[in-house]
Amino acid sequence: MATPPPPILLCLLLLVASPFLPRAAAAAGPAPLSSSSFDAGLAKLQARIGYAFRAPDLLRRAMTHASYSRENGRALAVLGLAAAQSAAVLGALAADNDATASVVSRRATEAASEAACAAAGTHVGIPAIVRVASRTSASAAPVVCGALRALIGAVAVDANSTDAAGDVFWRLHVLAAASAATAAI
Ligand SMILES: *[C@@H]1O[C@H](CO)[C@@H](O)[C@H](O)[C@H]1NC(C)=O
Repeated sequence: MATPPPPILLCLLLLVASPFLPRAAAAAGPAPLSSSSFDAGLAKLQARIGYAFRAPDLLRRAMTHASYSRENGRALAVLGLAAAQSAAVLGALAADNDATASVVSRRATEAASEAACAAAGTHVGIPAIVRVASRTSASAAPVVCGALRALIGAVAVDANSTDAAGDVFWRLHVLAAASAATAAI
């Protein structure tokens, strides 16, 4: 048939095909499909860490890598690292007032280690959630670790409390340690 399809059909076709169009076409605005799966990931993440954000934009920012957007979690990660170290040091001294400086420093170093933080981030599902540029691996340790630190920092800002961030740090730490112990059996 030579009759061209009615415009409404063309529009429908475009709508259905839009997720498969090249990136240049999608660059005009965020694709609704991928943004709703990002939101679903953020909802799961809040359930897993046992913390519901008052300002979900903070969580979105924490789960955005610098390769993806100028609005990313790097500044939050600075706070998250400090909060994690403070929680670890406080935990060591609360358990033993006489803990030596070397024991306490070791706790701080462990809390800051990329390996531990990437393991906790992977366990909580960050690689499937964090937004990265297409050439960046969402499961690379520095990416996962940065996002996990940003998550802890985002909780601190959202709750206006490093205690709340420390709680989430401990929960993640315990979850990841439990899963490592199960895996070792
Ligand atoms: C954050 O907490 C501090 C110290 O408790 C308080 O002085 C400040 O008003 C709080 N800020 C907000 C925005 O709630």
